[in-house]
Amino acid sequence: MRTVVLALLLAAVAAAAAKPSVADARAFMDKAEAELLDLTNEAQRSGWIEETYITQDTETESAKAQERLIARTTELVDQARQFDGLKLPPELAREFLLMRLSLPLPAPHEAALRARATAVAASLDGSYGAGKYCPNGDTSKCIGIDELDVRMAKSRDPRELAELWAGWHKIGAPMRERYADLVKLSNQGARELGFADTGALWRAGYDMPADAFSADLERLWMQVEPLYRELHTYVRRKLIEKYGAHAKRADGMIPAHLLGNMWAQEWGNIYDIAAPAESYKTADIGETLQEKHVDAKGVVTYGEHFFQSLGFEALPATFWERSQLTKPRDRDVVCHASAWDVDNDKDVRLKVCIHVTTDDFTTVHHELGHNYYQMAYRTLPFLFRNGANDGFHEAIGDSIALSITPEYLKKVGLVDTIPPPEADIPLLLRTAMDKVAALPWMLVVDKWRWEVFGGEVKPEHYNDAWWRLREKYQGVAPPVDRSEADFDPGAKYHIPSNTPYVRYFLARIYQFQFYKAMCDASGYKGPLNRCSFYESKEAGAKLNAMLKMGASKPWPEAMRVMTGEDKADAGPMLEYFAPLLTWLKEQNKGQSEGWTVSENPQKSQ
Ligand code: ASP
Ligand code: SER
Ligand code: ZN
Repeated sequence: MRTVVLALLLAAVAAAAAKPSVADARAFMDKAEAELLDLTNEAQRSGWIEETYITQDTETESAKAQERLIARTTELVDQARQFDGLKLPPELAREFLLMRLSLPLPAPHEAALRARATAVAASLDGSYGAGKYCPNGDTSKCIGIDELDVRMAKSRDPRELAELWAGWHKIGAPMRERYADLVKLSNQGARELGFADTGALWRAGYDMPADAFSADLERLWMQVEPLYRELHTYVRRKLIEKYGAHAKRADGMIPAHLLGNMWAQEWGNIYDIAAPAESYKTADIGETLQEKHVDAKGVVTYGEHFFQSLGFEALPATFWERSQLTKPRDRDVVCHASAWDVDNDKDVRLKVCIHVTTDDFTTVHHELGHNYYQMAYRTLPFLFRNGANDGFHEAIGDSIALSITPEYLKKVGLVDTIPPPEADIPLLLRTAMDKVAALPWMLVVDKWRWEVFGGEVKPEHYNDAWWRLREKYQGVAPPVDRSEADFDPGAKYHIPSNTPYVRYFLARIYQFQFYKAMCDASGYKGPLNRCSFYESKEAGAKLNAMLKMGASKPWPEAMRVMTGEDKADAGPMLEYFAPLLTWLKEQNKGQSEGWTVSENPQKSQ
């Protein structure tokens, strides 16, 4: 009798062990989140130190902290399999999903390989930050990307531009082998987590099947591509008028060094070349700020003030004490702007090397969007302290910056007069040169990486594949011959830092949806491009309602809270630029539109 009871009891215990309850899953997740919060904060803090003080030691420390986070996350994901098949409440199920998707750098279980993955990642990041161009090899005259950004924006000498371009792109080549290693190691990690490769893991973060996500991107690109092509045709003609043979190519492509940006990414800096003849002269915000002797802190204060005008709090005192706003004189740092949330609470910071330019004025608004998002969701369960998806995170500050209209600038004392309605086209053109021009580039970066992670592109074809995509989508060509001795993807921050990039494409689309929704909330009626919701508490409330949801719901629900729609839609972006599209078509009459792709996209002519 006794043995029977005991056997039954053991069977019951075994069954209970085999079939955990929802309460067990909840308890497991609470513990996991507490641990991951600690490990993430350690990794953030080490990452901050590394990027603001690049040395072998700080790289090693940062790699170690990443390693601990990756190791524990991987273990927890493995252990979480015990709950597979259990019907969980949606929020809890989402926490498990987000945990599995949380590593942009998955790494192998095998400790030595995992350590290598994080060491390689940290060393690539450090190499980018320490990257410099030393004209004529003179090591006393080296310049970093922050200063190169300004020179690419300002120089109108095609030879100098080509030199700066080629000089900076040299930083890529030494990264090639390490990058190939990173791809191999992180792919192994991704497979061990149950994904085909790292690209597949990244694409799984959008609350829809991978195929549907790719189809959605294609749909959005189709919506905006005609506008890009008109802009390309128009700007190309203006560049040829300015630079003659330096800009003219038989295949119709634009040489990548003439567009005012190292990656031919945003083109607003060469607005002066593209400006319609005798048009209203739009003010250059950077110049105005310089005339007013506004410093780096002052630039950030404009951004903070905008958020406060919507009803958000001031930035915490620690923000001002701990941020890096200007480039330190005596050490290497990563100058590429970023926003940090070091303790997943209120220790938010910016890391920028501000030059008082129009670009950096806009960048600061972009970055503060991240910090205000972080502060809005900081009381949620740890895994929900994130954007609804990563594109949302990138879109917030930009949707605010769209409100930097002449009326707004007048209110804050940065222009004296509001331009007449005929200035709309020039203003729209300048904005399109930043916002529309960047769209194809924002697809290229991850299309390249998805092919690399997916194995379609092997290391010996890295550079060729890069230029094939740039040619196809952007219609740009390199200013000097390239070959597989180069590794041009390495000259763009997000590749060595392993930061996914398609988020910026999504953000370009979403930000117009958010902007329109906030304009509506503010009671604005009129053409979308003239709306500023500065000082509208209604717009702020709308924004805050979405921000404080963090990642707690699938992104379409967050989109609905803001816009009433549950889809990405380029409609608002097209509405914003509609008058410009009509105008561009008029300007482009009789011009041959588009470009032809070449046999060897790495050749400069
Ligand atoms: N400003 C940078 C960029 O968008 C970094 C960021 O995403 O905040 O790449
Ligand atoms: N900040 C991002 C970049 O530099 C998107 O604009 O590419
Ligand atoms: Zn960003």
